[in-house]
Amino acid sequence: MFLKSIVAITLVALALVHASVFSQLQFIKIKSPKNNDVFEAGEQVQIEYIMQPLVYHSTSMGKALSLGVHFHSRTGNQKQQKLATVSNSCPVTANESKFVTHKTTWTIPKTTKPGSYAFDFDENASDSQNHTNR
Ligand SMILES: *[C@@H]1O[C@H](CO)[C@@H](O)[C@H](O)[C@H]1NC(C)=O
Ligand SMILES: *[C@@H]1O[C@H](CO)[C@@H](O)[C@H](O)[C@H]1NC(C)=O
Ligand SMILES: *[C@@H]1O[C@H](CO)[C@@H](O)[C@H](O)[C@H]1NC(C)=O
Repeated sequence: MFLKSIVAITLVALALVHASVFSQLQFIKIKSPKNNDVFEAGEQVQIEYIMQPLVYHSTSMGKALSLGVHFHSRTGNQKQQKLATVSNSCPVTANESKFVTHKTTWTIPKTTKPGSYAFDFDENASDSQNHTNR
């Protein structure tokens, strides 16, 4: 299963956006950046996400196989052109019973003009439904 989540941000303090996130990923929760965060060109963005335990509520629902993050221009809630690849293969290691947090940083290119942008998170997941508690 292929899932997407988009975090909308604005570059420079222009406050033009009220976009909200459009969908959630299946096994990954994005903690940072947050919707409507404001950055400047050249600034470091902390990308932080939490992996759900492999066995959650006594049930193994599958797991994330990969996570890619891309930087796009944006108009309102519409993602536009892809401007950069943040990563094609973010770590997705999870633990059987604990939440695992992964962190990385990415620098917004210095040449980026003020405006509306989005980080696009693509999760590829296996979603077999294994019930481990019978
Ligand atoms: C589900 O169970 C099958 C058989 O035990 C196993 O091969 C498979 O890896 C399991 N899948 C997940 C996502 O745990
Ligand atoms: C899960 O976390 C526990 C406690 O930190 C650790 O002992 C165990 O090896 C971890 N399991 C996996 C599969 O990473
Ligand atoms: C998802 O992962 C599977 C298994 O690794 C792979 O075959 C497939 O191409 C991936 N799909 C995407 C959209 O990355």
